[in-house]
Amino acid sequence: MFRSKIIGTGSYAPAKIMTNHDLEEIISTSDHWITERTGIRERRIASENEATSDLAAIAAERALKYAGLDHMELDLIVVATSTPDMVFPSTACIVQDKIGARRAAAFDISAACSGFIYALAVGDQYIRSGTFSSVLVIGAEVMSRIIDWTDRGTCILFGDGAGAVVLKRGRVDSGILSTHLHSDGALWDLIYVPGGGSRIPPSIDVLERKLNCIKMKGSETFKIAVRTLVDAAWEALKANNLRPSDLDLLIPHQANMRIIKAVVEKLEIRMDKVVMNLDRFGNTSAASIPMALDEAVREGRIREGNFILMEGFGGGLTWGSAMVKW
Ligand code: COA
Repeated sequence: MFRSKIIGTGSYAPAKIMTNHDLEEIISTSDHWITERTGIRERRIASENEATSDLAAIAAERALKYAGLDHMELDLIVVATSTPDMVFPSTACIVQDKIGARRAAAFDISAACSGFIYALAVGDQYIRSGTFSSVLVIGAEVMSRIIDWTDRGTCILFGDGAGAVVLKRGRVDSGILSTHLHSDGALWDLIYVPGGGSRIPPSIDVLERKLNCIKMKGSETFKIAVRTLVDAAWEALKANNLRPSDLDLLIPHQANMRIIKAVVEKLEIRMDKVVMNLDRFGNTSAASIPMALDEAVREGRIREGNFILMEGFGGGLTWGSAMVKW
């Protein structure tokens, strides 16, 4: 039996910062409202010539460098994204070319904000089965391209960024202990992008009605997010015979500070064990967990033998968790 070990992490956020005060200039909102209701103070916005694969490739290079792994050793690249460079080829194939990982198979995963947990689970399965020994898992998004900048209920929330991890086949006593994935397609219309696909193809009407942008039922999503994150945490804890107090670090999807606080309260986890970076990056969808993980690693918050729980939820509806012994 094999286990996947996370041997390198990397992340990248575009240089341009959009603050809540900048948003005050374009919609009827206030820094006070956004900070109070979400915890977000600023987010990064990709430049005109930056696409998702550009962000992903930088995060990937940083993770590979940290891992000390050569590009040619990679067997597989999985990119989780809802904002691919184009319909096809996959963003993973474009990243493969950019980083010169010529041996690797490459494909994308679409699970919205849960994308990274899904991609991590897939990468982990390939290693556990003995099929591959080195896998690059990336979450990358340019959410700013699918935001309706006149909708104050959504445009305040999202940002752009990328995070990556390198998985390597390792010993069984540490690494990814378990992953847990769930979906409820009946709740697809809580958060979605209606236009631009095969149901409603691109047209002038789609652009005029902003059907190519995110539509969201905010308060309903909020309640379900809290429930699914609490459930996903308990599932991962029980599967590994752990209690919340055994956790050294919780890395939740960075959607809303109030969601995270509600989850942490229900699980009775101390706030200093929770990684939060949404104040600076907002909700970067599939990129949020690996960006937060990379930050925690580089700040020295993670030590060998630590129990780390990562968990996410998002459009689909999808949710899931991953328990790691570092
Ligand atoms: N600035 C000022 N006021 C705003 C606003 C903004 N940016 N956005 C909404 N409001 C207003 C609403 O119009 C409403 O006014 P009304 O009472 O006069 O109608 C009021 O604030 C309350 O709106 P509501 O939607 O109930 O606020 P909320 O407390 O639920 O916060 C969200 C809104 C979007 C921040 C919150 O619902 C949320 O974070 N939901 C989860 C979203 C999420 O996580 N999505 C990603 C999934 S991966």
